[in-house]
Amino acid sequence: MRLKDKVALITGAASGMGRTAANLFAAEGAKVVIADVTARTGEEAAQEIKSTGGQAAFVRADVSKPADVEAMVRFALETFGGLHVLYNNAGIFHAEDEGTVETAEAIWDRVIDINLKGVWLGCKYGIPALLRSGGGSIINVASFVALVGAATPQIAYTASKGGVLAVTREIAVEYARRGIRANALCPGPIETPMLAELLRDPQRRARRLVHIPIGRFGRAEEVAQAALWLASEDSSLMTGAALVVDGGITAAYVTPE
Ligand code: NAI
Repeated sequence: MRLKDKVALITGAASGMGRTAANLFAAEGAKVVIADVTARTGEEAAQEIKSTGGQAAFVRADVSKPADVEAMVRFALETFGGLHVLYNNAGIFHAEDEGTVETAEAIWDRVIDINLKGVWLGCKYGIPALLRSGGGSIINVASFVALVGAATPQIAYTASKGGVLAVTREIAVEYARRGIRANALCPGPIETPMLAELLRDPQRRARRLVHIPIGRFGRAEEVAQAALWLASEDSSLMTGAALVVDGGITAAYVTPE
C-alpha cells in the first residue's frame, strides 16, 4: 500500500480524474477527503469508497472561494487528523472560452478564478496543514495546453493552466527544504465528463485525435496512476516538475499516420 495512513485531499473529486484518483488512493490505504462544489455526486463518490471498505469523507467546497477552501482544509484535519497529500484537481472548461478576441471578460475571470486562483487558494490554506503534518506532496493539475498552443483556442483555460505551472514551480522552491514537494500534472485529452459533450461530435473528436501520436484519448485511470506516483514517496526526488501524461502530443511535430 503506497499511501497507507496518509490523508489525501482531492478537489473536484466528485467526477472524472479526481474521482478515479480518489478510488485509487483509498485502495492504496489513504484516508481520502473528497472536496467538490457538487454535493450529490461528491457524497456518492465518498459512499462508493466506503462501500468497498476504504476511508473517505465528502466536504462541499467551491475552490474559488477562500472561506470554502479554508473550511475544506479544516475538515480534513478534524476528520482524519492531518494532511499529507493535497491534489488540486478541480477545474472547468467553459464552452464560451474561445479565441483571444472572441472570449468575454466574464468567462476569462470565471475560468481563472476556479482553475488558477483555486489552485493557489488550495496551497495557501493547505500548506500550513501539510507542514503541521510533517510535510507532504502537492499535485496541481495543469494540462498539456500549458506547454503548447492548442489547435482549438481556449484562451482563458490555457492561461489558467500556464499559471498553474508557474505557481507550482515557485511553491516547490519555496518549500523544498521544509518537506513539501509540489508538482504539476499535465494530462492530454482524457475521456471524462469534462470532454464527453465535445467528443460526442465525430468531427470535433477527429480534429483532436489527429494530434495524438498514440492514436487515442486517455483514460482517467492512466492519469490517476501518475498522480499516485506523485503523491507517494516513490517520487521523493521529484519537485517543481511537470509530469506530462498526454499520449505524445507535446513530443510531436508531425503526427504519424
Ligand atoms: P470533470 O468535469 O469530470 O470533473 C471536474 C470536477 O471539478 C467536477 O466534479 C466539478 O463539480 C468540480 N468542480 C468544478 N468547479 C469547481 C469548483 N469551483 N470548486 C470545486 N469543485 C469544482 O473534469 P476532469 O476531466 O476530470 O478534469 C479534472 C482536471 O483535469 C481539471 O482541472 C481539468 O482542467 C484537467 N484536465 C482535463 C483534461 C481532460 O481532457 N479531461 C485534460 C487536461 C487537464
